[in-house]
Amino acid sequence: MRIADFGVEIWMNRWETHCRYNLAETCVDSVTVAELLRLAGLGPADLAAELAPMRLGYGAIEGSERLRAAIAARYQTVRPESVIVAHGAIGANHLVYEALVEPGDVIASVVPAYQQHVAVPESLGAEVRQVRLREAEGWRLDLDELADAARGATLISITNPNNPTGALLDPAALAAIAAIAGRENAWILADEVYRGLDQDGPGTSPSFADLYPRAIAIGSMSKAFSLAGLRLGWVVAPPEVLGAVSRHRDYSVISVGMVDDLLAALALEHADAMLARNRAIVRGNLAVLDGWVAEEPRISYVKPAAGTTALLRFDAPMLSEAFCTRLLEAEGVLLVPGGAFDTEGVVRIGYANDPEVLTAGLERTSAFLARLDA
Ligand SMILES: Cc1ncc(COP(=O)(O)O)c(C=O)c1O
Repeated sequence: MRIADFGVEIWMNRWETHCRYNLAETCVDSVTVAELLRLAGLGPADLAAELAPMRLGYGAIEGSERLRAAIAARYQTVRPESVIVAHGAIGANHLVYEALVEPGDVIASVVPAYQQHVAVPESLGAEVRQVRLREAEGWRLDLDELADAARGATLISITNPNNPTGALLDPAALAAIAAIAGRENAWILADEVYRGLDQDGPGTSPSFADLYPRAIAIGSMSKAFSLAGLRLGWVVAPPEVLGAVSRHRDYSVISVGMVDDLLAALALEHADAMLARNRAIVRGNLAVLDGWVAEEPRISYVKPAAGTTALLRFDAPMLSEAFCTRLLEAEGVLLVPGGAFDTEGVVRIGYANDPEVLTAGLERTSAFLARLDA
């Protein structure tokens, strides 16, 4: 099966461990096991007591009942039977496309997005119609464009909150997208790995899973729950989709690790504490980033509404990859070229890392920009 190079992953794999200030990370500053236990109100002895008697077989094939119940509780109408776990959201997305896409199918995919949502259905022989968010419109989705692209589509793919722009769909847009999909009887594949990280209000916006009967919602422990090391994501979907996903999953997953399953369940059972920590980080860090953007004459942006990322427009006569490479070589700061998202003149920042790393990385970026002026 031929597939396009995954631009962001190639860039990250190359540089992530060779930079001093990682401003490319999309996970909220990862927690240690000790911190997870503290947030859950437990001590090391409690975890040891859970782990010691664990017989390390394959475990519950579709995810433990405890974990699936904790995942279902993140939604209003979802029952544990509607949940299946996967190796990260990347595994969950892949399984859904494998299970649902046939050659010649039409897929409407909102971009810029995680490249999986274009490259994988294309590799499976689908016609992928890209619906582009535009900076001039505040990265808001044009619903008429989506309706056009969705004509005859079997699936609409949308990431909410969006990576890389940080845009968040409001309730009216969610309802309109559901109506568009409903007219086509199309599935909505909603990648919601950044759900729970809104800048305003209570912090967690509605899921498509609670709004549209043919929704497939993807979630993960990596981003909003800052536990990427668990490599654990999930699919929430109607039975016919879960059946098709399971058929494919038997060939590539079997089950996720039992220890990962347990730690994910612990974190989700204390989701309020985890999300409170992580929202404090993204809200505090965005205030820092916002102040920095206001002071930098060569940088502008659409302030993100949710998630962990934003696109920064830079005023410099070079392509985004050259900008990122020169910044990295000169100052050790890692950003992601907009070119990896087919969007030039911008770079993606992940602003949810350790606040000290963010502040120091922005200072070094200012030094780099000042030399461009000289
Ligand atoms: C929108 C989106 N979906 C899925 C993933 C994959 O996440 P996971 O670590 O859960 O596999 C990412 C990671 O960057 C992402 O940004």
